[in-house]
Amino acid sequence: MDDIVARLTEINKRFGYIPRAQVEQLAKELRLPPARVFGAATFYSLFSDKPRGAHVVRFCEDAPCHVAGGRAVFDAIRAALGLEPGQTSADGRWTFEMTSCIGVCGVGPVMMVDDDVYGNVTAERVAEILNADR
Ligand code: FES
Repeated sequence: MDDIVARLTEINKRFGYIPRAQVEQLAKELRLPPARVFGAATFYSLFSDKPRGAHVVRFCEDAPCHVAGGRAVFDAIRAALGLEPGQTSADGRWTFEMTSCIGVCGVGPVMMVDDDVYGNVTAERVAEILNADR
């Protein structure tokens, strides 16, 4: 399973998502049924089977982050990006997604931009986080 996840991670980084043809190619290389590779590709929320923007913004929607003021941060992200969860901007720069707990609840509300995790986020910090050099 580690081999599958490592290879899917490479594919996801290269293409920004996991194209179906890559699933089938990987299954052939690993001599596994395509359904097994596809299952792994769809199990992990960090992988996507649809094209994404150049940068993926994720907001933690679980209760501890919500209680810590997450709603205001969520609204600020939506307004700054002009996107609803699951959408990609027309210029292909941003995709906005929700995520379940990423394990840093003590510093909620939490958001991610690509692999970078931001804690204690306030609505006022959202623009600064999104405008950081990428
Ligand atoms: S609930 Fe948001 S990081 Fe755990």
